[in-house]
Amino acid sequence: VNLKSYNSFGLPALAERLVRIREEADVRRVVDHPELGRAPKFVLGGGSNIVLTRDVQAVVLKMEIPGVRLLETREDAWIVEAGAGVRWHDLVSWTIEQGYPGLENLALIPGTVGAAPVQNIGAYGIELKDRFESLDAVDLVTGRTALLPAAVCRFGYRDSVFKQDGEAVFGGLAGKSVITRVRFRLPRPWQPQLDYLDLQRKMAETGITAPDARQIFDWVCEIRRAKLPDPARIGNAGSFFKNPVVSEEQCRDIIGRDPGIVHYPMPDGTVKLAAGWLIDACGWKGKTVGGAAVYERQALVLVNRGEARGAEVVTLARAIQESVYGRFGIRLEPEPVLL
Ligand code: EPU
Repeated sequence: VNLKSYNSFGLPALAERLVRIREEADVRRVVDHPELGRAPKFVLGGGSNIVLTRDVQAVVLKMEIPGVRLLETREDAWIVEAGAGVRWHDLVSWTIEQGYPGLENLALIPGTVGAAPVQNIGAYGIELKDRFESLDAVDLVTGRTALLPAAVCRFGYRDSVFKQDGEAVFGGLAGKSVITRVRFRLPRPWQPQLDYLDLQRKMAETGITAPDARQIFDWVCEIRRAKLPDPARIGNAGSFFKNPVVSEEQCRDIIGRDPGIVHYPMPDGTVKLAAGWLIDACGWKGKTVGGAAVYERQALVLVNRGEARGAEVVTLARAIQESVYGRFGIRLEPEPVLL
């Protein structure tokens, strides 16, 4: 199977075996299979957060578990459950239409429900962990299902136990388990999250000071469409680097040299810098390596201009890292999973 149409970057890579997972029992069937059971596994959701640089030797588990439902109405929250294969944006749209608001700031994020906890997706002031109840995951060795609460998932900024290597981090689950179902906790009464600058601007432009969830959903869609490429038309994996976190001292040092730097003070005294700004400042917008390019409207996004190979994307990413390190002394970390 060529995985080109299974990853949002549109990078070519071959996989020998691809198994479609339509229900939890399908995972157990693979685990119990005499041949497939022993082979290494690679879990694939929407493929919107991976960079394929070579052929995949593992058995690809393509997650297609469907279903969205209201599980429970509590006094202080709605609990909504979705299958790992549901498209993230379809889940968000469904909750808004059904009147269970809370995910509106996360509209239009590419990818699937099952992939969302892996990198703790976030946008416009909300992260998945802020709306998370629990998830079901199947162990790829034993085939056993476990219900994992938030504490076990170890959510961090674009990070979770599912990204952490078992050898590097105690109990990391990268490659060891597969998420089959996720439950969300949508607090009642609903409270809007409007701190983000782009949303403040929408409020000022429209004069709407008390938007409802549908209005915020529409605004987030407009903001994203204006500055992020649609992966259906231009291959990409969203932000290619994490926003680096530095000490206050380091930040003051950089501001001294570059007063315009976009930065956000964090509650713990550290400062998050806008990686897009750093890359932009180094003059990377629109630059290319073969078929890979830096998106013209958002320097944090690398795109496939047509026939890019994974290796070209990686070469471009390394060059950006070196140039940002050279000018600012900051190491940018890739955000998608590189394979
Ligand atoms: N900026 C520039 N030049 C650029 C790009 C950005 O100067 O080329 C400046 C902008 O002017 C802005 C600041 O950098 O002041 C931040 O940019 P933006 O608001 O677009 O957000 P971001 O920090 O680049 C993060 C997330 C996005 C998320 C948005 C909105 C990460 C790695 N990225 O991007 O998430 O949608 O905030 O909340 O945290 C993703 O993870 O794939 C992703 C798209």
